Amino acid sequence: MKKTNRVTVKRASIRDFDILREHRRALHEELRHRTKLEHKSGDSAYRKLLIDMSKKRRLVGFLAYVNGELAGSGCVWLRESTPNPVRKQLRTYAYLLSMYTLPAYRSNGVATAIVKEAMKWSKNHGYPTLLLHASDMGRHLYSKLGFTDTHEMRIRL
Ligand SMILES: CC(C)(COP(=O)(O)OP(=O)(O)OC[C@H]1O[C@@H](n2cnc3c(N)ncnc32)[C@H](O)[C@@H]1OP(=O)(O)O)[C@@H](O)C(=O)NCCC(=O)NCCS
Repeated sequence: MKKTNRVTVKRASIRDFDILREHRRALHEELRHRTKLEHKSGDSAYRKLLIDMSKKRRLVGFLAYVNGELAGSGCVWLRESTPNPVRKQLRTYAYLLSMYTLPAYRSNGVATAIVKEAMKWSKNHGYPTLLLHASDMGRHLYSKLGFTDTHEMRIRL
């Protein structure tokens, strides 16, 4: 009989920040080549962001488990957008970042469970829009959950 894998998601506490940082590093190692030195400075910058933003209550992390074993993570960061003619005040929106599933646990619905939790958290806390930057690997996952493309453009200077 096929064993069903039980996926659970919990909110990360400050004690879990090393896990979030490790997953962020693994994500970067997997997606693009960087030197060891670049990864090291990226690690400390990301740790600082986690600490600073969570102190300001602008970042929440989620950890996912498969049958009780740590399998992946992701975060919601509350960022500011510019005013526009309709909304004059700065508006805060929710941004999903650092979605990572450990290779051994992929295709078990781990990332899906985290994104759904992040969507629920954002909606319940008054943020009606969740933005993200999708990697090629993540694109299918987000489309399946209803995310659509926006009009962002970019130039490297
Ligand atoms: C993208 C990633 C987070 C998906 O994690 P996961 O836990 O395996 O995802 P799920 O099991 O919830 O799968 C969700 C969907 O994504 C698809 N998917 C998963 N891995 C994929 C891959 N390597 N390539 C293309 N699609 C993939 C699955 O097919 C699934 O769709 P399906 O149910 O129709 O088959 C994981 O592959 C990962 O950590 N990749 C490296 C880092 C990365 O790209 N993160 C996303 C940053 S935006």
